[in-house]
Amino acid sequence: MTTLKNRIKEGSRKVFPEMRAWRRHLHMYPELAFQEFESARFIAERLTEMGINYREGIAKTGIVAIIEGKDPATRVVALRADMDALPIEEKNEVPYRSQNKGVMHACGHDAHTASLLGAAKILKECAEEWTGTVKLIFQPSEEKLPGGASVMIREGVLKNPEVARIWGQHVHPPLVAGKVGMRAGPYMASADEIYLTIKGKGGHAALPQNVIDPVLISAHILLALQQIVSRKSNPLTPSVLSFGKLMAEGATNVIPDRVFLEGTFRTFDEEWRFEAHQWIEKIARDTARAMGGDCEVDIRVGYPYVHNDEALTKKSRQLAEELLGAENVVDLPQRMTGEDFAFYGREIPACFYRLGTGNPEKNILSPIHSATFDIDEEALITGAALEAWLAAAG
Ligand code: NI
Repeated sequence: MTTLKNRIKEGSRKVFPEMRAWRRHLHMYPELAFQEFESARFIAERLTEMGINYREGIAKTGIVAIIEGKDPATRVVALRADMDALPIEEKNEVPYRSQNKGVMHACGHDAHTASLLGAAKILKECAEEWTGTVKLIFQPSEEKLPGGASVMIREGVLKNPEVARIWGQHVHPPLVAGKVGMRAGPYMASADEIYLTIKGKGGHAALPQNVIDPVLISAHILLALQQIVSRKSNPLTPSVLSFGKLMAEGATNVIPDRVFLEGTFRTFDEEWRFEAHQWIEKIARDTARAMGGDCEVDIRVGYPYVHNDEALTKKSRQLAEELLGAENVVDLPQRMTGEDFAFYGREIPACFYRLGTGNPEKNILSPIHSATFDIDEEALITGAALEAWLAAAG
């Protein structure tokens, strides 16, 4: 195992210049969810160069590749990378700045893809030294419902051959490059989209006796909904209900017919999650009706919460410490952001961990989903080595 570990470490350093070039190429040509055609073509070309077999067109733009070690049937594990970018205009002044206007790899999925390609190359080159089969899943649309993971699972990505366990890796600017973070059990929240249409009766703002004011109704609804987290949920279960969009297109002297509210509900308990949906619907509708209006409630069920398998995460942590040193593996706190990797964890033991990509000395600090997000590319060496090591030994 020591030989394999050292070969993987050396392999990752060797493949780094290529990974950096791949990441920069993907960064320059980002594509939105389910439109990752050029990215998929780029991945397919790299896999062909490496002599790795793959299937294209899964969940539209997804790719699944297979690398076989010794006794391929004895164990089958999977690594997953997402490929989609975000509708953000990049503000970084770098040579590899996004060339696709209004689209940016601001969540590091370019790095996830480059790292997984790097791991593929390393695993392929030392295939005689590890046992089993590694499935590489290049997944579309992590950022947009219904999420590429659920579609790929439906299209059989975890079958034929059947996958026993899976890892997903995500960039993490608060953690310095060279380190990784892990957490067993519940890690990231479920995430559902809430769309409310508040219906009243518009008219002249100076004649309130003739209108049913949906602007005032929406203000009451917003306040009334606050009791869901404060009064209805178990205080020991993290929950959040936030509304980021409120649209009332009246004027100083015009009351509109309708007001639109859009928000998100997140939590860590599947039963409570759907109970909360019912409370949202009831409180919004009944508040509107009490004031003479009505409210249409559309809740789009998104990703479940991310549950990291306890035993797999413990093992992964041990392996990460062996590869990187105990000082480079840290505990992560729970977070209320969501991830469609959660769907894999509902099928098989799964572990979603974070790759440190920040570097205060190089002023690389911007958070994900911001226009100045970037990574310390040296993190790819850690990322690819750990993916290869987990796949070969975990
Ligand atoms: Ni992401």
